[in-house]
Amino acid sequence: MALTLGIETSCDETSVAVVADGRRILANVIHSQVDVHKAFGGVVPELAARDHLERLPQLLDIALDQAKVAPQDLDLVAVTRGPGLVGCLLVGVGMGEGLAAAWSKPITGVNHLWGHIYAAMLARPDFEPPLLGLVVSGAHSDLVRMPEHGRFELIGHTRDDAAGEAFDKAARMLELGYPGGPALDRLARKGDPKRQRLPRPSLPGFAYSFSGLKTALLYRLRELGDPDEQTRADLAAAFEESVVESLLEKLDAAIEAEGCREVVVCGGVASNTLLRRRAKELVDGRARLTMPPLELCTDNAAMIAAAGFFTSPLARGGPPTAGGSTEVDPSLGW
Ligand code: KG4
Ligand code: ZN
Repeated sequence: MALTLGIETSCDETSVAVVADGRRILANVIHSQVDVHKAFGGVVPELAARDHLERLPQLLDIALDQAKVAPQDLDLVAVTRGPGLVGCLLVGVGMGEGLAAAWSKPITGVNHLWGHIYAAMLARPDFEPPLLGLVVSGAHSDLVRMPEHGRFELIGHTRDDAAGEAFDKAARMLELGYPGGPALDRLARKGDPKRQRLPRPSLPGFAYSFSGLKTALLYRLRELGDPDEQTRADLAAAFEESVVESLLEKLDAAIEAEGCREVVVCGGVASNTLLRRRAKELVDGRARLTMPPLELCTDNAAMIAAAGFFTSPLARGGPPTAGGSTEVDPSLGW
């Protein structure tokens, strides 16, 4: 059995995990910084980095304790090196490198986006690429092809806002507070998407765009003045439906074009109720759909440990040697 320690600090979740053989979660401790950023209505990078620094040692103790492993039992340290907020990434990588040096363990830097896809490996023990992935988070709306472990090819992405960013901004316009995505999801459940129709963005090919939809919501709110609670719920439902339909229209075309048998929908926005339901309806009977459980959709270190393991020689029965670069890259791509 090979044990990987995962560390995730790219944005506003601090997380430490221990994963066996890249599949079995022994511990996945997550601390959300919602309370730190709430008053500011969004993530404040400096406060986020400082909070990661303060929390990490304690989370590490809890994770090792829960997993019932000692540092010497570990085979690999895997840490997110990007994309994300530079100060936050530096805290995680610094911690990972310090631990790896102190414990004489190999370390590998992990692409956070890859991590979201690898959450699917934790959700289904028999899961293997090739697969088609829709990664929808606060900063990304990407359609990717994964032919084999450690290889990803970008098929489509957003021209402007990411889906999560669009949800967060719409939530702010509807005065739902922070974090916006989950609040908008809750309000949309009480609304009817047919009563306040909003345009559905549709660019040619596999490109996404959500800024026009966001502007449409802004203008509608101005027209309405001070809408009552039901109208706000209808607007949330209409906005959600437009985003979800747009995301799935391209996924539909990609499944058709790629003929892939395995489809993964992941990232923070994959917690969205309507997206989960509609994705099932879309993929059913055509391919196998894997959507990680909610706690593995949003940022966590177990997915980072899984990605680190599967892209290291350890996964092929090789020796635990140092893996990918740990150089921090805030705008790391696929
Ligand atoms: O993957 P993630 O945890 O962090 C990034 O890597 O960005 O994704 C966070 C994003 C946020 O924009 C948040 O509002 C959105 O995911 N989100 C949701 C829901 N839960 C989280 N958006 C819509 N509905 C949800 N239930
Ligand atoms: Zn993420």
